[in-house]
Amino acid sequence: MTRVDAADVISDLSEVLYTSDQIAARVAELAVRIDADYAGRDILLVGVLNGAIMVVSDLQRAMKSHVEMDWMAISSYGSGTQSSGVVRILKDLGVDIEGRHVLVVEDIIDTGLTLSYLISNLTSRKPASLEIMTMFRKPGALRMEVPVKYVGFDIPNKFVVGYGLDYASRYRNLRDLAVLAPHVYS
Ligand code: IMP
Repeated sequence: MTRVDAADVISDLSEVLYTSDQIAARVAELAVRIDADYAGRDILLVGVLNGAIMVVSDLQRAMKSHVEMDWMAISSYGSGTQSSGVVRILKDLGVDIEGRHVLVVEDIIDTGLTLSYLISNLTSRKPASLEIMTMFRKPGALRMEVPVKYVGFDIPNKFVVGYGLDYASRYRNLRDLAVLAPHVYS
């Protein structure tokens, strides 16, 4: 089987933070918690494209509950490594979330800018409940007022790639989560 492991792009990475096995184990733990928390309620997973594709896909297969999923695409970073400050909906949900139990699934929260925008936008659509899960969280996100109910891993304030996260559209299919070597983007 051909697949991208850290060893294949090692010169582009400065450090592997979590291996694919560690990520899978953590996703499984969160799935158990989410199943228990939502017992008796149907969940709508809202994945934030493109970064959350891997976590949404793995999370729902690790869950026992019935889940529906939908996707939103929001612009934030462009091809750089700093938040642009501009948040814009590129693709909206296909379903009406009024009265639904919505769990927003993010790949990573850095400044929290994207998520704050998303929360106020989705809240105005009157879901029955709205919670947030993120696979990775950087320290800046802790200053956010929006509570994040489920967190995969708290990571250092470094630019990371893999498990859905890209730099200039590359490295999303790297199975581990790794810090991108500065020489790649400087
Ligand atoms: P925030 O609005 O600053 O919280 O940024 C959130 C979005 O920026 C994420 O959904 C990612 O698409 C992107 N992002 C933030 N940090 C990283 C990173 O370290 N690697 C890749 N993408 C990132």
